[in-house]
Amino acid sequence: MTGDDPTSGDDPTSGDDPTSGETDADRPGVGRVYLVGSGPGDPDLLTVRARKLIDGADVVLHDTLPGPAILETIPEGRREDVGKRADGERTSQDDINRRLVELAEEGETVVRLKGGDPFVFGRGGEEAEHLAAHGIPFEYVPGVTSAIAAPGVAGIPVTHRDHASSVTFVTGHEEPAKGESTVDWSALAAAGGTIIVLMGVGTLPVYTGELLSAGMAPDTPVALVERATWPDQRAVVGTLETIVEIRDEVGIEPPAITVIGGVAATRTGVRAFLENEPRVGRGRVIEGR
Ligand SMILES: C[S@@+](CC[C@H](N)C(=O)[O-])C[C@H]1O[C@@H](n2cnc3c(N)ncnc32)[C@H](O)[C@@H]1O
Repeated sequence: MTGDDPTSGDDPTSGDDPTSGETDADRPGVGRVYLVGSGPGDPDLLTVRARKLIDGADVVLHDTLPGPAILETIPEGRREDVGKRADGERTSQDDINRRLVELAEEGETVVRLKGGDPFVFGRGGEEAEHLAAHGIPFEYVPGVTSAIAAPGVAGIPVTHRDHASSVTFVTGHEEPAKGESTVDWSALAAAGGTIIVLMGVGTLPVYTGELLSAGMAPDTPVALVERATWPDQRAVVGTLETIVEIRDEVGIEPPAITVIGGVAATRTGVRAFLENEPRVGRGRVIEGR
């Protein structure tokens, strides 16, 4: 198959694609790579473009983050799990980059499917640079990021006129090679807006401790939203002082988003009317103390 847009047959807007034709003529026989965001996991939250591209791709490279409900919709013969190798180790980013180029050079149309949005802590930027360096035409397809959607489905708006006029997205997991943290937690404590931490379940004690040491009020509301939009979504609310204990008591595990700031308490007031939570899960949702 060539690098044609797999949606072009039925998509009247595909002719507007400024790269179509041009790049194919430049590199005949080379397929395109689509860096596609899957959203947080509910197939209904895939964009229309993502759905069409997934359905038309020769190969979908993915890890587990898009979630079972989305991955199950892709025939096994057309998907490649690049999250883990056969020996159980994580596939290195270099290997993923190499595979993307290899498939495109074989003329395949490739969807690189990433949880949430590819450019929010998704290493999509590195893949885009690698593809560009190898002359592979690619398209970025935005997804609904869990950084906003996960709090939202738990009844937590990331900004609120009464609580926060700024929001910061932070990683709770930094490259061990970097040595000391590049996140300035005391600056975030002083800023006063909402702090959203991704990949921060394991390191929760570290950064809540840093925020407390920096003078943030111990009763600052904190929520954890686990597997947002998956059928077994769960959420808990506590404070900077209690949230680690709640995490352990409930057994919250990745993937989960941490929300720190006054907005986290919004959940308590709206939850009774919130239709975003799985009915069966409601009984298991634990509120803060
Ligand atoms: C490598 S980052 C990728 C973020 C992704 N690109 C996005 O925009 O949502 C992985 C982290 O995203 C968060 N995450 C992704 N999907 C989630 C979900 N359905 N529920 C809760 N957190 C999620 C978790 O913090 C997880 O550790």
